[in-house]
Amino acid sequence: MTGPVLIVGAGHAGFQVAVSLRQAKFAGRICLINDEKHLPYQRPPLSKAYLKGEGAPDSLMFRPQKFFTEQNIELIPDRAASIDRNANTLFLHSGAALHYGHLVLATGARNRMLDVPNATLADVLYLRTMDESEQVRLRMAQRKHAVVVGAGFIGLEFAATARAKGLEVDVVELAPRVMSRAVTPEISAYFHDRHTAAGIRIHYGVQANEIKGEGGRVTGVSLSDGRVIPADLVVVGVGVIPNVELAKAADLPVASGVIVDEQLLTADPNISAIGDCSLFQSERFGEKMRLESVQNATDQARCVAARLTGEAKKYDGYPWFWSDQGDDKLQIAGLTAGFDQVVVRGDVAERSFSAFCYKAGKLIGIESVNRAADHVFGRKMLPANRSITPEQAADPAFDLKKAMA
Ligand code: APR
Repeated sequence: MTGPVLIVGAGHAGFQVAVSLRQAKFAGRICLINDEKHLPYQRPPLSKAYLKGEGAPDSLMFRPQKFFTEQNIELIPDRAASIDRNANTLFLHSGAALHYGHLVLATGARNRMLDVPNATLADVLYLRTMDESEQVRLRMAQRKHAVVVGAGFIGLEFAATARAKGLEVDVVELAPRVMSRAVTPEISAYFHDRHTAAGIRIHYGVQANEIKGEGGRVTGVSLSDGRVIPADLVVVGVGVIPNVELAKAADLPVASGVIVDEQLLTADPNISAIGDCSLFQSERFGEKMRLESVQNATDQARCVAARLTGEAKKYDGYPWFWSDQGDDKLQIAGLTAGFDQVVVRGDVAERSFSAFCYKAGKLIGIESVNRAADHVFGRKMLPANRSITPEQAADPAFDLKKAMA
């Protein structure tokens, strides 16, 4: 492959494709279409350390401008508008047309918006981009009472930070427990207790029906059960929607993501899709999946770059995730959905434990709280299809290091 590689989206996935191509000595043209006004940056800190006020904006950037110049990676500040697949051409909003040898869709996902009256008030904020994080940081310093809609990763990371900064915090969650999409009830219960102990109020089984406002300012949130919670700031974290429109308009098969095969190729041999927007066929898990994580974005990027430089292989990345909430670090290795047995290892009261998740007697994932060694164990054992028994996991004397060796 010599022709230009165009990459749409300069998030973790898009950036990594460009870097990996150059590392593999790809000498052709590389264009990274970036629709944000910043150099490509890391997203996880936006709801974690950066939100707390740690680090300047520059600390978020993957690399300085100099790097892109030296590596001859063309950063194009524009948005992709459409694809002409017959002519291998990408059209940009500015009107420019770019020819491609290969096109990589790394378009990511966007915030799912809260669709209730007054949701467009200025004090109703989201937390996915750098600009949004700046806004939240700024307003958090000026406001006293935040209502958080959604007790997922984003909502809880924000809630813990806001509470630590002295704000009153109420969290509104549709489901009966926190992070129900991603973790076992054991982990949900722990984080419920920790956040509640910090003074955060969590309201389950309700949703926001309306944002109350006066003179353009938020005054509260009315809930589906009739209650009104006073607030002067609302932060929404109700999940994301993958950006598939560009692919769809080009008649590429799309479902809950851009459909790709085991090598991350779309139905068009000249177009790949990776990261949050990609619905890929996983050989390992035997199903189609779409994952929202840095690991998935960067590993898929490496897989595509390898294919484009002559090392075609099936995508084989192993999923892991993390979240920082207050003083607690949650790390997840594997996919725990579908578990039928959970074994707790460690000590919940000591704030150091893991939930070992089993399905039909086989270890499928490990969710760890402040227990890095268990996470490392999972990252090593799970991809190799190795397991320990539930009895071994439950036995504090059982040596994980030895089992790993
Ligand atoms: N009212 C209240 N809660 C809601 C509503 C609603 N109308 N709609 C959804 N929720 C809840 C869901 O039940 C879920 O617990 O919002 C939560 C959303 O959690 P996630 O799906 O984890 O999404 P979010 O926290 O927004 O994170 C988005 O960013 O950091 C990444 O990995 C993270 O990929 C995820 C993305």
